Amino acid sequence: MPATLAFDVYGTLIDTTGIVTALEKLVGDASGPFSDLWRSKQLEYSFRRGLMQNYQDFSVCTRHALDFCCETFQVELCGADRNSLLEAYRYLPAFKDARQGLERLKTTGCRLFAFSNGKPDDVRNLMQHAGIAHYLEGVVSTDEIKSFKPNPAVYAHFLRQAGACGADAWLISGNPFDVIGAISAGMRGAWVKRAPQAVFDPWEIQPTLTVGSILELCDVLEFAD
Ligand code: 2OP
Repeated sequence: MPATLAFDVYGTLIDTTGIVTALEKLVGDASGPFSDLWRSKQLEYSFRRGLMQNYQDFSVCTRHALDFCCETFQVELCGADRNSLLEAYRYLPAFKDARQGLERLKTTGCRLFAFSNGKPDDVRNLMQHAGIAHYLEGVVSTDEIKSFKPNPAVYAHFLRQAGACGADAWLISGNPFDVIGAISAGMRGAWVKRAPQAVFDPWEIQPTLTVGSILELCDVLEFAD
């Protein structure tokens, strides 16, 4: 049976630090730390909304996180500038290895999906803009069940939508919390260690595989039974 691969989007196929280019014009030297805080607050807000069972879609978490960063960095942005940053978030670039990696994996017969907290239209738009939509059999979004990763229900939702079972399905992610969530919910999990200094959470659950890129995943996946 061919493996089913669920690719996380933000931080795995799509480079969230791509927003730094748009930020530089508005916040100057603070663009790096601003981008890092924006991303971590966006995720924190999704975790908290999931726990509180007070769902608002991921774009709302992104917008509220941007507002938090503006307050923290004491940057006054007009509505038009905030909207232009949120618009730039809809066109973030893919990581360099995404296209070639998906192309190679496609030739192995693996079933490839994007699986994200992002709204389905936002994810499709990102995939199309990055030129990788045609490698994917589909997009599965946690928005379809109004929850966020790492709720075990969202991984079960993925498996149902893909018609796959956990033993044959992999979550491929650059986000350790996502890998842990997927393995805890019965899938296999590959961590794409996007930066040499990245640390995996020292929990009792560790990745089934760790790779440095999606291209490396192509080399090792066939040996991982
Ligand atoms: C995603 O679901 C977690 O941001 C990550 O795409």
